[in-house]
Amino acid sequence: MYLVTGATGVIGRPLVTALTSAGLAVRAVSRRSDAALPDGVELVSPGNLDLTGVESLFVHPRATKDYVDDLLRRAVAHDVRRVVVLSAINADDDPAHQPSRFNGDRNTEVERAVVACGLPWVSVRPSSFAMNTLTMWRGVISMGDKVFGPYAAFSEAVIHERDVADVIARAMVDDALDGRRLSITGPEALSLEQLVTIIGAVIGKPLRYQEVPAEAAASAMIAHGLNEGFVHALMNRYARELERRPVVTEELPTILGRPARPFAEWVADHRNEWV
Ligand SMILES: NC(=O)c1ccc[n+]([C@@H]2O[C@H](COP(=O)([O-])OP(=O)(O)OC[C@H]3O[C@@H](n4cnc5c(N)ncnc54)[C@H](OP(=O)(O)O)[C@@H]3O)[C@@H](O)[C@H]2O)c1
Repeated sequence: MYLVTGATGVIGRPLVTALTSAGLAVRAVSRRSDAALPDGVELVSPGNLDLTGVESLFVHPRATKDYVDDLLRRAVAHDVRRVVVLSAINADDDPAHQPSRFNGDRNTEVERAVVACGLPWVSVRPSSFAMNTLTMWRGVISMGDKVFGPYAAFSEAVIHERDVADVIARAMVDDALDGRRLSITGPEALSLEQLVTIIGAVIGKPLRYQEVPAEAAASAMIAHGLNEGFVHALMNRYARELERRPVVTEELPTILGRPARPFAEWVADHRNEWV
C-alpha cells in the first residue's frame, strides 16, 4: 500500500495516477470526503489516517505541516519502509528569500522532520512549477495579448508537475534513491519573456511580455491581494537570481532515463485552461 498525502493537489494528482498506472495500491489523503480520485483508490481523511500495511509514505509539506510529527511517529510504529517528502530546490536558502514561506509553506521544517524520523527517506526538491505561470498569467492572457511584469530576463528551468510526480513515484518504490536530496528541474532555463512567447505559440495567440519596473509590479501585486512579504521575497529572488547562472540539473534524466518534459509540452497539456 502506498500512502499519498496532498493527493488532490498539483503534485498529488499525477502522483496517484503514476502509482495506480504502475499497478500499485494507493491510499489517498484529503480533507474532502467527496474528493474525486481514480477508481480503486482508497480515500482517507487526515484525522483518520490508517497506516496499516503501508510500505511507502509520501509526505506533502503543505498538506501535512500541522501534523507531520504525529504522522511520522505512526509511520515508525507501523514499520513503514520508506518516506518520500516533497521539498523545494530553495529549501536551504535564507528563509527570508523563500517566497512561499510568507504564504505559510514550511518545506524546510517538514523535510527536516522526515530526515530525522529514523526511517529510510528521500527528499524531492523541485525547481519552480510550470503551473505557476497559469496562476500568475491566466487572467491577463485570457483578456489580452500583453503580460505586464518585472525582470523580463529572469530565467529559470520550470518543471512539469508530472515530472515531479514521476520522480516521487520512483523514489517511493526504488531503494536506490534512499538518503538523497534530489534537486530536479525542467530541461532548460527560460526567461519570463520566453515563457510568455512559448505560451502564445502553443495556444495560438501571439503574446508579449512587457517589462515594468519592479516597484510598480510589486505595488500592483499587493493591490491585487498578494501577501506583502511574499511579493518582496519574490522580487528579491528575481533580482538576486538575475546575477547568477540559472540552475538546470541532470538529476531527473539520470533517475528516469529520459529528458525532463519541455515547457511547450506543459502548455499543451494545459491548453484549455488559458481561456
Ligand atoms: N509552486 C512551486 O513552484 C513550488 C516549487 C517547489 C516546491 N513547492 C512546494 O510544493 C508545495 C505545494 O505543492 P502543491 O502545489 O502540490 O500543493 P497544493 O496543490 O496547493 O496542495 C496539495 C493538497 O494539500 C491540501 N492543502 C492545501 N492547502 C492546505 C492547507 N493550508 N492545510 C492543509 N491542507 C492543505 C489540499 O488537499 P485537500 O483539500 O484534498 O485536503 C491540496 O489539494 C508547497 O509546499 C510548495 O512550497 C512549490
